[in-house]
Amino acid sequence: MARPILKTALCERLGIEYPILLAGMGSSGFATPPALVAAVSEAGGMGVLGGAGIPAEKLRQDIRAVRKLTRKPIGVDLLLPARLAEDAPPTRSAVREELKRKFPRHVAFVAELKRKYGLPDVVVENELVVAAHAEGGNKTPHEEQVDVIMAEDVQVFAAGLGDPSWVVPKARRRGMQVIGLVGNVRHAQRQVAAGVDIVVAQGYEGGGHTGKIANFPLLPQVVDAVSPVPVVAAGGIGDGRGVAAALSLGAVGAWIGTAFLVADECAIPEISKERIVNGRSEDFDICRVFSGKTMRGYRSEIVRAWEEADIEPLPMPYQKILMDDFCESAAAAGRWDLRSNPAGQIAGMLKRRQPAKEIFEQLVASTVATLERLKTTVTSG
Ligand SMILES: Cc1cc2nc3c(=O)[nH]c(=O)nc-3n(C[C@H](O)[C@H](O)[C@H](O)COP(=O)(O)O)c2cc1C
Repeated sequence: MARPILKTALCERLGIEYPILLAGMGSSGFATPPALVAAVSEAGGMGVLGGAGIPAEKLRQDIRAVRKLTRKPIGVDLLLPARLAEDAPPTRSAVREELKRKFPRHVAFVAELKRKYGLPDVVVENELVVAAHAEGGNKTPHEEQVDVIMAEDVQVFAAGLGDPSWVVPKARRRGMQVIGLVGNVRHAQRQVAAGVDIVVAQGYEGGGHTGKIANFPLLPQVVDAVSPVPVVAAGGIGDGRGVAAALSLGAVGAWIGTAFLVADECAIPEISKERIVNGRSEDFDICRVFSGKTMRGYRSEIVRAWEEADIEPLPMPYQKILMDDFCESAAAAGRWDLRSNPAGQIAGMLKRRQPAKEIFEQLVASTVATLERLKTTVTSG
C-alpha cells in the first residue's frame, strides 16, 4: 500500500517525512532509550533522545547506539539550568548538606517515608544537574553534555528548560536546528530572542514539567507571538484528532511524549506502563513533590503522603535532590511504584501497549483520516 502523505513546513526544515516528533523525555534514559528514538525516526518522524540527567559519556554511547539503528535525523533534549535558585550550592552533596541545615523537617519527612516502606539509604551518585556555572574554568556537566551533542551525529538540539542562547551559535556552526520548549507567550518570545529555530509549545495537559495554560489558548497565542518562527504542539496528543487540532491551531507538527511511553521499546518500569493503560486522565495530576517545579504525573501514594502531611515542597533544586535520593532508594528496593511517574492527561485515552512503529503509523493514518473527514463533515466556503 502507498504510504500516506502528511506534510507541513516542519518536514522540509527537519528533513523528515511526517511532522511528528518523539518528545525528549529525561527520566535517566528510561523513557526515550535508543531503540525508541530510532524507531520513531525510522517510521518517518523524528526521535528525540531525552538527555537530562545522563552523564556526558553515557549520552555519547546512547547517541551512538541510536546511530547503529538509524541514519535518519535525530534530536537530543537537555534541561538547561537557568531557573535554579540563584544561591543554590553547586553540587548534589553540597545541596544535601544545606538541606540538613536549613530544611530539617523535609529531610525528616523523607527519612520517615523510607522507614515506612523499609527502603535502604541510597543516594544518587553523579553530581549532574545542579551547577549553573562551573568554578575555576572547569566545564559544567551541562557544557560537557552539549560538547558531546555537538561532536556526534545529531541534527536537532532541544532545550526543555532554561536559556539555550549559549548553545545556539555552536549549533549554527554545525548546521543543527535548535528547539526551545515553552509553556507561555513570554517564554516563547524569550526563546526566540535566544535564537531558537523552532518553538515547542507545551500545554498544561502534557506530561512532565508543565506550565499553567492549556493548549487551546496557548497554541494560537504562541503562533501569533513568534511568527514566522514555526511552532510545534506538545501536550495531550494521543491520536490523529489531536494532531489535526494542533495543526488547526497553527502548529506545524506534534511533539508527543506520553503516547510513546506505552511503546514496547520504551524502558520505563512495567508499573508505570500499567498505570498509563489502566488510568484515567484525572489520575495524572500536577504537583511539585519530585522536582520542586510543577510536574504532571501519576498521583501515587507518595504524592498523597506529601499532601496529607501538609508540607510545602521546596524549590528546585532542593526538592529534586531530596526526592532523587528517595527515588534511588525506592529503585534499590525494587519499589518502582514509589518513584516519580511523569505522564500526561492523555493517558486516560491510551489503552494498548504496542511497538512504536505501530503507534506512529496510527498517528499518521488517523491524522490523514481526520483531515479528510473534516472535508466531508464540515461545509464551508
Ligand atoms: C516521562 C516524561 C519525561 C519528560 N522529560 C522531559 C525532559 O527531560 N525534557 C523535556 O524537554 N521535556 C520532558 N518532558 C515533556 C515532554 O518533552 C513533552 O513536552 C510532553 O510529554 C508532551 O505532553 P504529552 O506527554 O501529553 O505528550 C517529559 C515528559 C514525560 C512524560
